[in-house]
Amino acid sequence: MKKTRRLATALTAFALIALPGMTGSGTASANATSCLLCHNAMSGKATTASGAEIELRINSNLFQASVHGSMACTECHQAFTENPHTAPDQAVADDLKKLSSTIAKKAKVDPVAYSACSTCHSDVYQSVMTSVHGKNIAEKGAADGALCLDCHGGPHGIVKSTDENSPVNRKHVVATCANCHADEKLAAKYGHEANIMESYNESFHGKKYTLGHTKAPTCVNCHGYHDIKSKSDPASPVFGTINKTKTCGNCHKGANATFVGAITHKPAGPIPHYAELGLIVLTMGTIAFTIAHVLLEAYSDIRDVVFRKKEEEEETKNESYNECA
Ligand code: HEC
Ligand code: HEC
Ligand code: HEC
Ligand code: HEC
Ligand code: HEC
Ligand code: HEC
Ligand code: HEC
Repeated sequence: MKKTRRLATALTAFALIALPGMTGSGTASANATSCLLCHNAMSGKATTASGAEIELRINSNLFQASVHGSMACTECHQAFTENPHTAPDQAVADDLKKLSSTIAKKAKVDPVAYSACSTCHSDVYQSVMTSVHGKNIAEKGAADGALCLDCHGGPHGIVKSTDENSPVNRKHVVATCANCHADEKLAAKYGHEANIMESYNESFHGKKYTLGHTKAPTCVNCHGYHDIKSKSDPASPVFGTINKTKTCGNCHKGANATFVGAITHKPAGPIPHYAELGLIVLTMGTIAFTIAHVLLEAYSDIRDVVFRKKEEEEETKNESYNECA
């Protein structure tokens, strides 16, 4: 630890020379700059006082290009003093302290920073904490449920969901949910069907999504995202026929009770499997028959043409022979 600090101080001196372009103008960016003088210049890992292993480097380019790029580091890291965080126990508001102890299991370094998102995104935070994912953390005291960074990526590179690099962008959101929902052990632990991802990927919807169909639903079109509820919660968009009719009805006008029963994540039974196989055999058979038919037809045409030519030739030969004679 002592060693790392001395190294860091040396790096500060280096950074002051090496990064002159980073001196910001406003107070916020000036503050970020002073932290970045070390954190953009250091590399490798360190162990904090609380025993967590951390990545020392914060890539200043990534940070500045993120949605929070103009913020001071201490707007999230509220317990950290300017330089170099000798007393990580600043006066933090009581509600933030409370939230940070609730989510402590999800934060390996700085639960106050992880809670601080709520100072600007309070409605979103509230909705996540009362979702099936948030309740997993707050009520069950587990760390399996998703919190902000599980879906939005690292805290210093968050971009808008419309940005193709965002893990919650339509292009990537299915893979982001799959980080946890493809895990069969996790599914078994919470009593979910074991093949959530396969059943989606093999559905009409999943196939269209993979092909790039822009109207095909991803997970979030049927389940929501911040306020995801268990299927047995009446507030879930996939609870019961009435809710499902509304959810499917967003895209399928006139969806009724029979129609909405068509989609679950239950494994497809053997019947659809054989039906599909049968369809394939039938299609291949039809194609093979058509090709054979065309070939035979062509052959008989060619044969006719050749024979007729030969006959005609014979005839003309005979005629000219007769004339000469
Ligand atoms: C003089 C160099 C230096 C400066 C300036 C600096 N840090 Fe650090 N920081 C370190 C080092 C070294 C560590 C490694 C672990 C340790 O010593 O706590 C670290 C660790 C951290 C951690 C991990 C958590 C922990 O408990 O250690 C956070 C968060 C952090 N710094 C944020 C900041 C913020 C925010 C600022 C600006 C207000 C800042 N740092 C300024 C050198 C620096
Ligand atoms: C939008 C809020 C936010 C801002 C702004 C922010 N951080 Fe962080 N930072 C976090 C969160 C959240 C964590 C992860 C906390 C955890 O897992 O306990 C974190 C983690 C860290 C870590 C530990 C890295 C690791 O491996 O986990 C360091 C070091 C750090 N921040 C430094 C900085 C510095 C320096 C700045 C300013 C350039 C900054 N942060 C700006 C939210 C923020
Ligand atoms: C289960 C995954 C998931 C979690 C957990 C999550 N988000 Fe999101 N978030 C999303 C998705 C998906 C979108 C964008 C949907 C779209 O627009 O396509 C989004 C959008 C947003 C937006 C844009 C506004 C909006 O509501 O669409 C903000 C701000 C945001 N999230 C902040 C947060 C914060 C803060 C947390 C933690 C309290 C969090 N998110 C937790 C998936 C998640
Ligand atoms: C000091 C206020 C502040 C804090 C703290 C803060 N944010 Fe933000 N956040 C913003 C602002 C401002 C934007 C940009 C909104 C815009 O441009 O429309 C933003 C944008 C976002 C977006 C992109 C939303 C979109 O449009 O797709 C996400 C995701 C997000 N924040 C998540 C977080 C998370 C996670 C944390 C905590 C680690 C956090 N924010 C902390 C102010 C904050
Ligand atoms: C960090 C891991 C993680 C990520 C990422 C994640 N989930 Fe979950 N999800 C869980 C866990 C764990 C549960 C079970 C929580 C419990 O019951 O306590 C769960 C539960 C659910 C449920 C409720 C199941 C039921 O009926 O009880 C749905 C629906 C769900 N997640 C959808 C999603 C979607 C959609 C995404 C992506 C936007 C997503 N999840 C991302 C871990 C995750
Ligand atoms: C077309 C709508 C639709 C899409 C798309 C969809 N789901 Fe579902 N999901 C449902 C329905 C309906 C249920 C409830 C099934 C039931 O009642 O048995 C459900 C249930 C679940 C459950 C609980 C399963 C259980 O066995 O308890 C999880 C977890 C889940 N979905 C995750 C996802 C994930 C992750 C994705 C994206 C890969 C996704 N869903 C895509 C409609 C959808
Ligand atoms: C975000 C929009 C959206 C939602 C929500 C949605 N679907 Fe679809 N669905 C589609 C699209 C797009 C197709 C492909 C249509 C095509 O290519 O003709 C499709 C195709 C289907 C098909 C294949 C047969 C057909 O009609 O083309 C079924 C069955 C189906 N959806 C059932 C459901 C059910 C049940 C739900 C609710 C649990 C649901 N869908 C929710 C967009 C959606």
